[in-house]
Amino acid sequence: MLDREILLLDVVDGLPQGEAMDINHMLSERGVDVTIRGSNDYSDMEGSDVVVVVAGSGRKPGMTRMDLLKINAGIVKSVVSNIAKFAPDSIIIPVTNPLDPMVYITHKVSGFERNRVFGMGGMLDASRFRQFIHEATGHSRNSIRAMVIGEHGEHMLPLTRYSSVSGIPLCSFVPQPKLDAMVKNTREVALKVIQTKGATVHAPGNAIASMIEAVVKDQKQLIPVSTYLDGEYGYHDLVLGVPAVIGRRGVESIMDLDLNDSERRTMDAAAESVRTAVASLDI
Ligand code: 2OP
Repeated sequence: MLDREILLLDVVDGLPQGEAMDINHMLSERGVDVTIRGSNDYSDMEGSDVVVVVAGSGRKPGMTRMDLLKINAGIVKSVVSNIAKFAPDSIIIPVTNPLDPMVYITHKVSGFERNRVFGMGGMLDASRFRQFIHEATGHSRNSIRAMVIGEHGEHMLPLTRYSSVSGIPLCSFVPQPKLDAMVKNTREVALKVIQTKGATVHAPGNAIASMIEAVVKDQKQLIPVSTYLDGEYGYHDLVLGVPAVIGRRGVESIMDLDLNDSERRTMDAAAESVRTAVASLDI
């Protein structure tokens, strides 16, 4: 559990304050001494260690994450300018979609070193990939490890060669048609959740909490995050999902995996998608 104060900040008067009261009442019953505060004033984030950015619109049924680019770019630029002003020593974890372009905006607008800006996308995609592996193989979720890199979007890259059950690579025992189905389902399932319940909530929230914990507890977790690349995977001045060691300093190292031709084609398509999106913005 995070033994810190958590600030909920929103532009809607009363909303963060109401959420904070409601959560504090729950925490009191659970005997958890973490204080939640609600505010509409950016200056209250002064001294924050980690700032999660979820501001912006969510997608509706039938939309891609990239459809939110123009709507959310301006919002994220404004929010990040305030974070840089009031929490200049923080680590920023963007979540707003389209994630990879939003991480790029955050990196550029904040002016922070690249290790202090990394987005939540691949961690969530990997949780979904693990679920499909669990459903297809029947193995315990506890013994399943999954790696998803690339774009948190249409060109997501679930890596069947680097995902395993108790260390045994998926591709060594799961037939290719089943692997293809798992990859397809991982790419498409978020929209199904949105179509049925309106938004994805629990899985993204859990992924963000795990990433914050890796920072606050300096866990050196190797997890997929969306971060700024400066030569890794052969890309420069680009943000994509890659495996990274996350600890107190944020992105402490990036693992440059060996990709086969098929994986490289998807990664290059992801790079093209994000680069085109970013080029259309006025950052
Ligand atoms: C998701 O995949 C919202 O992009 C987020 O659930």
